[in-house]
Amino acid sequence: MIASLKKIGAEAKAAIAGAVDLAELEKVDVAYLGRKEGKLNDVLKALKNMSAEDKKAIGPTANALKAELVELLNQKKLEFERAAITQAVEAEKVDTTLPGRTCTSGSLSPLSVAQYELEDIFRSLGFLVLDGPELESDYYNFEALNIPPHHPARDTQDTFYIKGILRPLDKLGAQGDKGKRKEKLLLRTHTSPVQVRAMQKYGVPLRAVVPGRVFRYEALDASHDNNFNQLEGLMVDENISIANLIAVMKTLLRGIFKKDVKVRLRPGYFPFVEPGFELDIHCLICGGKGCSVCKQSGWVELLPCGMVHPNVLRAGGADPQKYSGFAFGLGLTRLVMMRYGIDDIRLLNSGDLRFLKQF
Ligand code: FA5
Repeated sequence: MIASLKKIGAEAKAAIAGAVDLAELEKVDVAYLGRKEGKLNDVLKALKNMSAEDKKAIGPTANALKAELVELLNQKKLEFERAAITQAVEAEKVDTTLPGRTCTSGSLSPLSVAQYELEDIFRSLGFLVLDGPELESDYYNFEALNIPPHHPARDTQDTFYIKGILRPLDKLGAQGDKGKRKEKLLLRTHTSPVQVRAMQKYGVPLRAVVPGRVFRYEALDASHDNNFNQLEGLMVDENISIANLIAVMKTLLRGIFKKDVKVRLRPGYFPFVEPGFELDIHCLICGGKGCSVCKQSGWVELLPCGMVHPNVLRAGGADPQKYSGFAFGLGLTRLVMMRYGIDDIRLLNSGDLRFLKQF
């Protein structure tokens, strides 16, 4: 038995030494120490049926051999694991002397930059920054703003009506008509519809600005697009006057242009304000000499504004006897053109990277 143990031991040691990888080592482990058919394990299992004398003679040798084989297997296993780690480290070696790869990042459109700056200015004045639907109802875009059907003021904002889509009037649409009349939808022509939506939702007193995209069926030229951005402003409270309007307009222009710009205020007509004004700025593209952006006039129409009409206050649920307010509709796209010296509005929506990369 001792001789056969020596033979098993010699064979196993040779097999361990000769194993080329972990899988082979595993096989050797099973062949000699495996519980079911391991050669050395068979001897150890047979011990319990032997006489006490044989147990004494063979047991210690067999156990010592088992300990020796376990130790050899562990050592070899460790060797393979170390080799695998070394190989992985070699393969993943990073050459820190190589030049880095430049990663190109996008940047904000000049429209977004100006919009975010304006939002910050107005937040600092206690205004909410609100949003409104681009697909708007005829009611909010016109009627609630004191522009009834067939009013000629509708012609000043050429409208994209949405064919075939009708929906029931909004619950506050037209008292008495609720649920009976259906109305057509349109792409909002200005951000002003949010004036009434905001008063209905938040009540008055209220201070809010509404940046957003608006749409008009316009002939395109250097200063007219059919898809452009505005920023609406509304302040309603007790005792709001034109003085408040002018103070806020000045803060807005100083904040965005970071210098004094020449402005002029002239009367303007919008059915939703009374009185109404047009605030124009001296054209910063040509310095007032006249160019295609200012239509050779030297002035750019930028900030129509006025005192909120009592009918609009009523539509918003505010009592015109108690409350007054001002509103303005800044042409955000035109403002960006003035600020950056962009001489053609069509560049802003062109998607031309040569243009956009300059910002
Ligand atoms: C309005 O849209 C009114 N809702 C503004 C308003 C709000 C008045 C609150 C009073 C109180 P208007 O149609 O003038 O007004 O447009 C406002 C601004 O949008 C213009 O001053 C101009 O800067 C810009 N704008 C108008 N049409 C275009 C266009 N086709 N392309 C680019 N900008 C335009």
